[in-house]
Amino acid sequence: MVKLPDTPEHNKVKDFVANFRGDPGSLIKVLHFSQGVFGYLPPEIIGYVAQELGVPPSHVYGVVTFYNFFRTEPIGEYEIRVCLGTACHVKGGKDVLETLCHRLRVKVGGTTKDQKFTVNTVRCVGACGLAPVIMIGEDVYGRLSPQRAWNIVKGYYEREGLSETEGSS
Ligand code: FES
Repeated sequence: MVKLPDTPEHNKVKDFVANFRGDPGSLIKVLHFSQGVFGYLPPEIIGYVAQELGVPPSHVYGVVTFYNFFRTEPIGEYEIRVCLGTACHVKGGKDVLETLCHRLRVKVGGTTKDQKFTVNTVRCVGACGLAPVIMIGEDVYGRLSPQRAWNIVKGYYEREGLSETEGSS
């Protein structure tokens, strides 16, 4: 029996899920809502949703991994999306990705320890003329070298008066 802690976030999910008890057809809707509350799907939420909707946890995990939209890890304050579409790949997008992962000490899909950045890849953001391109949040940066990409990320830390290695070491 999965019992959720008594936090405002968990209570929000409990109240929402109560409307769909025993209704497996509402799984996506409930997961979507829960991710909206937490920013990701913590394991206890997956267990709770499975129990309340009456579906096996393995099925819930299957759905969560099938849809890119769902995440089981917390996301950073900023999401960096490194374009690996054809134009960006040809112009060195992979080097940009490797440099950012190396400097931020994360793997693709990972989040820095200070929860500032999550690094992901994307297939073409529609700015091929600027290849190679990254997006940070909704901002697009193009014609990058690995160093220039890193300088941009460092700029986010500098603006907030933080050392870029503070949270990522
Ligand atoms: S391939 Fe990167 S923007 Fe199109």
